[in-house]
Amino acid sequence: MTTTLIVLAHPNQRSFNGAWAEASAKACADMGHEVLWSDLGAMEFDGIEARAHYGIAPEAAFDPLKAQEAAAQAGNLPSDVAREIEKVQRADRIVFHFPIWWFAPPAVLKGWCDRVLVQNELHAVEQRFDRGMCRGKSVLFCATTGASAAECGPDGKEGDLQLQLWPLAQTFRYLGMQVLEPVATHGVHGYHEGDDEAALEARLGDVLTGQAALLANWGRHPRMRFNSDDEFDAAGRLKPDAPSHTPFVRHR
Ligand SMILES: Cc1cc2nc3c(=O)[nH]c(=O)nc-3n(C[C@H](O)[C@H](O)[C@H](O)COP(=O)(O)O)c2cc1C
Repeated sequence: MTTTLIVLAHPNQRSFNGAWAEASAKACADMGHEVLWSDLGAMEFDGIEARAHYGIAPEAAFDPLKAQEAAAQAGNLPSDVAREIEKVQRADRIVFHFPIWWFAPPAVLKGWCDRVLVQNELHAVEQRFDRGMCRGKSVLFCATTGASAAECGPDGKEGDLQLQLWPLAQTFRYLGMQVLEPVATHGVHGYHEGDDEAALEARLGDVLTGQAALLANWGRHPRMRFNSDDEFDAAGRLKPDAPSHTPFVRHR
């Protein structure tokens, strides 16, 4: 049975993002998936890594990476983190639902990554990128923007949404997951009036209705392309004859 984890990074379940996440959950349940949920707002997930999570005194040294590793090894990770790690380990697929806030996913989602993606639990020095611990899993980002599709395009004044999502995509690529091409719903905001508002409602309704077909097509949905490990030299730089798939990793 396929297990799908839905992660909602929005403070309001009754937002469009909340409705979109619900549509994903229902579609997956209808396909017979086991559905796991992380509604970060409802959970009041604490996305700020801090010594208090590990009982480390203010005057003591605090190295977050070592604190996470030590807690994982001792089996006493913070309970909220341990629960999230278990969900990621169980999941075959993850669907993230979030709005774009200030040209990036909301801070709570970055914080979820900072705290949950613990070394030796979901990745390790010898198990990352092509050999990532999470090989075989795949992830999809469903993002909303207030700006229009044109404004979020490669030449748009808001900047290219695909680039804004790249650091998050690279995070899951680092873990070894396949990353599906992100899906976006644009122009989502409450300032439309009259016919514009009705048109928006109809468009958002279509997104919710279409979510089942989108998720049913998971296997054929295009994947983001990343360089393979052997396309980098010993210093970790892109080899001259290797392709560049993103301005984040390009030839000088
Ligand atoms: C703090 C904040 C920052 C935002 N920054 C952006 C942005 O950088 N680009 C954009 O297109 N929309 C931005 N928006 C608009 C949101 O993307 C929009 O409200 C959201 O996608 C609507 O989805 P919702 O109805 O589920 O909240 C921002 C909204 C907030 C609250």
